[in-house]
Amino acid sequence: MTKRSSRLSGFATLSRDERIAALSEWLPEGVDASDILNETGALPGELVERMVENAIGVMPVPLGVATNMIVDGKDVLVPMATEESSVIAAVGNAAKRCRAAGGFRTSYAGSLTIAQVQILDVADPHRARLEILRRFEEIRDVCNQVDPMLVDLGGGLRDVEVRLLDGRHGTMVVVHLIVDTKDAMGANAVNTMAERIAPVLAGWTGGRSLLRILSNLADRRLTRAEAVWPATEVGGAAVVDTMLEAADFAVVDPYRAATHNKGIMNGVSAVVLATGNDTRAIEAGAHAYAGQSGHYSPLTRWEKTESGDLAGSIEIPLSLGIVGGATRIHPVARLALAIMGTDSAEALSRCVAAVGLAQNFSAVRALATDGIQKGHMALHAQNIAIAAGAEGDEIMRVADAMKASGEINERAAKTLLADMRA
Ligand code: MEV
Repeated sequence: MTKRSSRLSGFATLSRDERIAALSEWLPEGVDASDILNETGALPGELVERMVENAIGVMPVPLGVATNMIVDGKDVLVPMATEESSVIAAVGNAAKRCRAAGGFRTSYAGSLTIAQVQILDVADPHRARLEILRRFEEIRDVCNQVDPMLVDLGGGLRDVEVRLLDGRHGTMVVVHLIVDTKDAMGANAVNTMAERIAPVLAGWTGGRSLLRILSNLADRRLTRAEAVWPATEVGGAAVVDTMLEAADFAVVDPYRAATHNKGIMNGVSAVVLATGNDTRAIEAGAHAYAGQSGHYSPLTRWEKTESGDLAGSIEIPLSLGIVGGATRIHPVARLALAIMGTDSAEALSRCVAAVGLAQNFSAVRALATDGIQKGHMALHAQNIAIAAGAEGDEIMRVADAMKASGEINERAAKTLLADMRA
């Protein structure tokens, strides 16, 4: 067999059909990619090609709706895109259990986005710092010319901070441009501002500018949500207590905190993806914020109220937008925003924070009581049945038989399927 080369010269200039054809020699015998890749669903093929390079198709992910949510007194339906079973049900279930107590209350710190400019080889960093701070208005004028529409909407450069950091190659002057990006996630606007102001800063300081890029540690875009779950809705006073013990594990142990926060991000990222926002930016920001004290910590806090109910809160940085990028052009993202009825990045952020808290409530409750597998496997059993080859009504029959036997795995599914077919 001849050795295949991944050096597919000219691949980028091919049509999508031609690219799909060019893949054929990379596929196992008998596998035809074209049927799968030509089906782009709600995302038209021509849009796919404009969104990423070398596009061949789409990777569809299930989209569901979390029910029962009340956020700041308003009922909302929350679209969630995720491949993981139980995530959407977990949010709806947590929301149902705190509905009578008013649902989720949130607060929003605003839409301040940070861009960083790194300046090296500065002879007198302290003097440079003062010089930059003194010339704030000049910096503002340069930055605000980048996006006049943002300025018209009330956004633009708000503040400048200068940090001196001792690196292995000398002291760096790190300038933070703090920009109100309003309803945009803001990466493009602030990155352009950073690139435009960098040579100016280098000139003033006699240094050399290097990196010019936003920071995903969006600690000026914090959103908080809180809710109280009556003890009766949690499962009684004893369950409240065990949930508090379970949550405490994440406070003291980063190994547990990573998983605790992963569960929160199951909910958060699903809404972020459904609305066409940047999941990686949100994940990076959340985990960096969780570690900001030097001890990686949970993003949520759990306490008992005086009346013995369970109070939970979350604080999470959320760089979300409802204008620009995929949020604007992806038909499903636009529909998702319409379903939520969100007309601002602020409203979206408030819902997302509430979803993160809801998700964590359900995960900690399940873990502290029955364990996670019982609920998870209920739906996952169907996936296993499908993976084992079940079709149509066989899927439920195999899944139910596996649940009844308590043995939920692909080997069991294959045996059951073979028995059924025999
Ligand atoms: C699984 O995707 C998420 C959980 O592990 C979260 C947690 O442990 O808190 C269940």
